[in-house]
Order: sequence, then C-alpha cells, then structure tokens
Amino acid sequence: MKLLLGQTLSFINDPFMVPPGEAALWERRGAVAVEDGVIKEVGAADALRATFREAEVVDHGEALILPGFIDAHVHYPQTAIIASWGKRLIDWLGSYTFPEEARFGDRGYAEEIAARYFDLALSHGTTTSVSYCTIHPESVEAYFTEARKRGLRAFGGKTCMDRNAPEDLRDTVQSAYDDSKRLLETWHGVDRLGYVITPRFAPTSTPEQLEALGTLWAEHPECLMQTHLSEQTEEIDWVMGLYPEAKDYTDIYDRFGLLGEGALMGHAIHLSARERARLKEAGARLIHCPTSNTSIGSGLFEMASLKAEGQRVGLATDTGGGSSFSMLRTMAAAYDVGQLHGSALHPAQLLWLATCGSADSIGMGDTIGRLARGFEADLVVLDLASTPGIAQRHARADDIWEAVFPTIMMGDDRAVTTTYVAGAAVPA
Ligand code: GUN
Ligand code: ZN
Repeated sequence: MKLLLGQTLSFINDPFMVPPGEAALWERRGAVAVEDGVIKEVGAADALRATFREAEVVDHGEALILPGFIDAHVHYPQTAIIASWGKRLIDWLGSYTFPEEARFGDRGYAEEIAARYFDLALSHGTTTSVSYCTIHPESVEAYFTEARKRGLRAFGGKTCMDRNAPEDLRDTVQSAYDDSKRLLETWHGVDRLGYVITPRFAPTSTPEQLEALGTLWAEHPECLMQTHLSEQTEEIDWVMGLYPEAKDYTDIYDRFGLLGEGALMGHAIHLSARERARLKEAGARLIHCPTSNTSIGSGLFEMASLKAEGQRVGLATDTGGGSSFSMLRTMAAAYDVGQLHGSALHPAQLLWLATCGSADSIGMGDTIGRLARGFEADLVVLDLASTPGIAQRHARADDIWEAVFPTIMMGDDRAVTTTYVAGAAVPA
C-alpha cells in the first residue's frame, strides 16, 4: 500500500452539466491510497494516514494529483514529423505523413518510434493513448509490445487504406480484414490493451474496404472503431465526390456499419444538423483535436453547443498533425478555440475533458480517468508553479481553479513532476 499526498481533485459530475466549480471535490491536503495498481481510497491526508498506518508515504507537497491524461486520438508513427510547416490536410498527408509512415514496415524503426512516443507521452503525463498505427502489422506489434512492457492501458489498431495513398501504403479489402482480425485476436484484452478497428478515413478506403471493416466490427463489437470525420472543407468536397450516393460524410460511415457507441470520430468539425442528430442517436464519440485543428487550419470544433446537445466528447493531441504531445497545451488550445466561439471553457471542463471525458469516450469511464476508489492508479502529479511565469500568476490565485488555470494555459512537461502507471512511478 502506498499513500500519495498532495492536493487532489476528484470529479463527481460532468462540469458541462452542473456548475463547473461544483463538479469536483478538492482537498488542499489530500491523499490517494494505492494498492496493486488500483486506487483504494481518496480523501483528506490526515484521515487516510490514520486509516492506512502501514502505508509507504510519498509526499508530493503542494503539487496537484490528478488522473493521468487520456489522449483519445494520436498517430504514434507521426512522432518524428510533429510540427511540420505550412500545409493543409491533404498536402500535409502527402508531403510529410505518408513518406514517414512508409518506414514502419521496418519493425526495428517501428519499435524505436513506439518507445520514443511512449517516453514522450509519459513525460507529459499521458497514461493512456488511443493510436493509429500504419498499414503495416509490424507497426501494431511494435506499439502493443512497447505499451505492454510499460504496463500501460493503451489502445490502437492497424490503419487501413486501399486507395488514394502511395502504392507502398496500400493494403487491400482482404488484407485489411485479415490483418486487422489477426491483430485483434492477438492483442485485444491482453493485459491492459485494446484493439481499435481503424479505417483511416473514407477517401483512402474503397466502399468494399469500409464494408469489410464494418463486418469485422460487427463480429467484434467489444473493440472500438476509430476514423476521421469532417476535418477540412476540401476533404469534405473530395469525399462527397467519391461517395456521391451518401447524404453527407457521416452517412458514409453509417452505410457501412461504422457508426455506433464505440465509434471514435476524430475532428468532427464541419457537421450539419442532420449529422449531429445522427451521431448523437448512434452514440458515436466526437474527439476534439484542437492543436491540430488550428495548426493544419481545419476549423473550430463547437464544444459548447455539442456538449449542450448531449454529444459525448473526448480530447486529443492528434500527434503529429497536432503540434504538441502535451494534454496541457491541448487544453489551452481547446480554451482558445472555445473563446473564438464565444464560450470560455472553465478549468474544470478542460481537466474533465482530458481525463473523465476522454475515458468515457473510449468506454473506459468506470476504469480510468478519475481519482476514485476502484479506478486504476494511472496518475499525473502537477507542479502548479513550474516556471517563473506560471509561478507569479499562481501566487495571485484565490481558489483551486485559478491556481490550476495558469498551468493549463502555459504549462507543459515541465509541470509534470511524476507520472504513475498502475501505481508505480515512471522513472524520469
Ligand atoms: N485524416 C486522415 N489521416 C489523417 C491524419 O493522419 N491526421 C489528421 N489530422 N487527419 C487525417
Ligand atoms: Zn488523426
């Protein structure tokens, strides 16, 4: 048994549904009791010290203990090309992304980048990632092998593309189905890993491939399914030309059985009223990727109105279209995008999105993403005064929300003092 001491914030409600400041319990001197990788109790430090007298005490002082961040949409193979200059989506894919992804047929390279990706994610306090791999099964093997070695709860899958991609990055209808099925059977449910059926997006799959992957998903509804939806206007024009019979972009996935509760729709920016109604009815999850949406020039996700109408939303870096590995930088971008829409997201809403919201979006809302008894002990510890600029603003704070907001807006991996995976501190 370990007792971690520090400030604690435990969400008890969705801060988009209740007054945000009342959505979480805050302890100035709190404690998290951890045993066998699971949270046993959360409460006031004095009370838990009295209850768990034998526990090893780790005192994080004034730092804030939170659930580890959950990044609901990343492309780990794009780690080395993050922050590439000057392109919009389709050109960016062709110029930077596809040439890099073509290297992942080499298992050694895939292993090197998977290890580098997880090192970076953990140093930024991200304990769960939901990643696209490449079309190569080797890239999936490397990802899951590395995640398993580190004891992570991680999700991912083979990206499928059988058209509109370079020759060496195309699979076929049959190989996409067969490889995905074999990888799913090998990895889904092993330790803390989950397989995600992954058609990249409608333009790079033939209707036959989307149909085959819809069939695979129907055969394995225990898996998640991830894809991209309505990210850029040029992309939407392109896709509607490729699927002229579809009512809209959402309808393409719907027609092939790729819409449902376990569907993670990356970006979801330019949606019609019909699409919003249908996505909600199907229970699909919308994944907000704000640093990517600004960096590639995609558009402004309508967080406030989407949450108000009851959509389920997760938050993500979209590494490497996104410009940062940090979920703090991602929260800051979500805040900025909200402001451009006339709604200032509360710090509670931003932190909730990066933890509970993302957990809920991947069907893990009762397992990870909350400081509460019975949840897995993946944690991040944040120094709320990690740089001189943050520290001087933090010194003026009157409550916990004001104390944490400068770190949300200006923080990065320097704010992360410790990351815990299943109760064990990750070596720096
Ligand atoms: N749409 C299809 N593939 C991608 C990708 O790799 N990144 C982003 N941002 N959008 C995509
Ligand atoms: Zn993406």
